[in-house]
Amino acid sequence: MVLSETDNYKKMAAESAVNTYIEDGMTVGLGTGSTAAYAIKRLGERVSEEELALTCVSTSEQSTALGKSCGLKVVPFEDVGRIDVTIDGADEINLLLQLIKGLGGALLREKIIAAATDFEVIIADRSKFVDELGFTVPLPVEVLRFGHEHTGLALKKLGCSPKLRMNGNDVFVTDGGNYIYDCKFEGIEKPYFLESGINNIPGVIENGLFLNLASVALIADGNGVETFKVP
Ligand code: 5RP
Repeated sequence: MVLSETDNYKKMAAESAVNTYIEDGMTVGLGTGSTAAYAIKRLGERVSEEELALTCVSTSEQSTALGKSCGLKVVPFEDVGRIDVTIDGADEINLLLQLIKGLGGALLREKIIAAATDFEVIIADRSKFVDELGFTVPLPVEVLRFGHEHTGLALKKLGCSPKLRMNGNDVFVTDGGNYIYDCKFEGIEKPYFLESGINNIPGVIENGLFLNLASVALIADGNGVETFKVP
């Protein structure tokens, strides 16, 4: 199958991450999304070619299924202690390695897994790299179903236009059984300030700002894969 240019960059970043950071015996976090899927497939190849003994935990039902189909040992999160390395995608990344995640709907588990990870590797094509968060994509916020209309109104007061995420004619439901409001801001100048404002709203379960969780970002484009570290 011929890959589009963007898919080719996603694959380059994903394969570079797996080849560089994964070692025998590690506990590995599987990300979610189209870029993370390339990493999961490459992990499967390395496990079968090099007989690596990896234990994996997953950020979504979708990645669990893909991991198992690639021959990975995917265990429940409660069965592991710390995670050595997680490889995950992102929707936006800035130079401080602050992220917006969750357009794939897995932000809650992704954040829990990232927080339990010693070395979080973010992989993406260059289009995800931005000067300021919040201009190109909405910020996903996972909310409890109960009273979600009120939660949405409270989110709006923070200066965004929140939209309840749909899946065709139905409301989109996360792996945790919750709803998501996609909150479009015209840029997020003060991400920590916004994060605490969002987290103070009753009914909010998690937000898609990942501010202090990425260890490195591997960004691919026509020139190859560039590694960014927190300055
Ligand atoms: C899922 C995510 C994904 O990592 C993010 O949406 C990027 O996805 P893709 O690699 O398909 O562009 O946060 O919740």
